[in-house]
Amino acid sequence: DKANYRHFMAKEIHEQPEVVGHTLARYVDMGTERVVLPARLPFDFKDVQRISITACGTASYAGFVAKYWFERFARVPVELDVASEFRYREAPLRKGDLAIFISQSGETADTLAALRYAKSQGAHTLSVVNVPTSTIARESEIVMPTLAGPEIGVASTKAFTCQLMVLAALAIAAGRGRGELSEADETKLVHGLVEVPRLIAAALTTEPQIEKLAREIAKSKDVLYLGRGTSYPLALEGALKLKEISYIHAEGYAAGELKHGPIALIDETMPVVVIAPYDRVFEKTVSNMQEVAARGGNIILMTDAKGAQEATVESLVTIILPDMAATFTPIVYAIPVQLLAYHTAVVMGTDVDQPRNLAKSVTVE
Ligand code: M6R
Repeated sequence: DKANYRHFMAKEIHEQPEVVGHTLARYVDMGTERVVLPARLPFDFKDVQRISITACGTASYAGFVAKYWFERFARVPVELDVASEFRYREAPLRKGDLAIFISQSGETADTLAALRYAKSQGAHTLSVVNVPTSTIARESEIVMPTLAGPEIGVASTKAFTCQLMVLAALAIAAGRGRGELSEADETKLVHGLVEVPRLIAAALTTEPQIEKLAREIAKSKDVLYLGRGTSYPLALEGALKLKEISYIHAEGYAAGELKHGPIALIDETMPVVVIAPYDRVFEKTVSNMQEVAARGGNIILMTDAKGAQEATVESLVTIILPDMAATFTPIVYAIPVQLLAYHTAVVMGTDVDQPRNLAKSVTVE
């Protein structure tokens, strides 16, 4: 049931401190501050030469964030594909490569077909799934569960942040296994992860501000989302979430791609949501914001206190998220992104939990 919420989506957004916490507890030993995976791996990360990650929609954006983590922590090349492309492009996989599949439902037809293809190529198959009895879970060599609990709203929210939690733990394990992370590095990263549930709770307190902002966004025809580094996949996720439930056209772009095309769209009627925690690419994103501001674009900046202070650009609204380890910001910045889509849809009066033309689980291709 919806408890006291108007929609399942609202309930699921608010459950995130708890369910991300459960997921964390399954992957991290709090006593020793080590990552402990819930399933034994039938291979050594040292022998993995390449990882492929395949999923659809929001799950693919979790995979996109994970690509940055695996490459940084474990120095292993990662190829990311949406399942509908992967399954037909006959990607060469080597025996012993690791193929990761991410799916909330575990029933997505394209993801399942991609999994079967990877198996036929002799790759190790590992799935990150929320429904443990699903077909994808049953057919994978290794299952890494997300503990989000049942997700009813068509728009994926808590499954996404739980997927990120699992993938972060897995990327740390890969880094340790390949000797790219020291024990001290692991401890530091685990410290960062352990903070995440509390930071998600803090991020939820931005809701009244976002609710107000949603009334403005609801007047727009198009919205642009920008981000760099791990905030780039989150920009894609923000745009997907907004369009699927509010039916407002939105696009996500890598901030650095702005001048390669989308900047032509910018005028006073186009809100630009910039996801920019104060991290090592922050200054670069600020220069993109200046380009937007110079053309009269309305900036909605999602950042932290330091970022708000250093951003030398006038924004329509600045949403301040808690200070945290830069590495794991996507798990926390997902919250304002989800809330903005949710409240905009509520203002628009759409069927938030059952948006038109969409199904919760896409079992046909
Ligand atoms: O069940 P899955 O995670 O495999 O589903 C994948 C996508 O269909 C799903 O994430 C979809 O994009 C959501 N409606 C996004 O909110």
